[in-house]
Amino acid sequence: MFTTLAAMRRAHVLLILALALLLTACTPPGRNKKVAAPLPQTVIGTLPKNPSTSLKGNAAKGKPLFASSGCGGCHIYKPAGTNGKIGPDLDKLAADAKKANQGPLPDYVSTSIKNPGAYVVPGFPNGVMPNYGGQLTDQQVADLVAFLTKPS
Ligand code: HEC
Repeated sequence: MFTTLAAMRRAHVLLILALALLLTACTPPGRNKKVAAPLPQTVIGTLPKNPSTSLKGNAAKGKPLFASSGCGGCHIYKPAGTNGKIGPDLDKLAADAKKANQGPLPDYVSTSIKNPGAYVVPGFPNGVMPNYGGQLTDQQVADLVAFLTKPS
């Protein structure tokens, strides 16, 4: 007799728990809006206007910057005499930019340096190239862009 009562009580508790769960599950998502409001991911798609491309770059200054920033460790670039194989061959940069279809060449190159994850060259890993946006000034990026896009 006692055991049945206890069992019944347990069943009762379980039923209440189940109902409570059901109620929480049925709460419309809008009600919880204040609790968790993650920022939209769309930030990536709307990059602010790029100051590095409105500055005039100096290719002669870009060359030593290319060396001191370690770009050659990952990139082949004949004008710099480097042969890194982790990233794309920068002698083919103009062709890659055309394929990428991300706007004018200087913009593409500048964004590739300051925010490499914005567009990842097919066949290469994302997150390997360091983000130089915080290390280089806009003028330095402009100088690198000039060095990488000067007609050879
Ligand atoms: C640790 C390796 C590494 C270093 C250092 C590095 N990169 Fe890269 N880079 C990559 C990889 C990998 C990619 C391709 C993936 C991507 O697009 O993010 C890439 C992509 C690029 C692209 C786009 C290339 C294309 O063909 O479209 C440019 C431009 C570029 N890097 C320039 C630079 C410059 C300039 C520096 C130095 C300031 C630099 N990288 C330093 C690995 C590196």
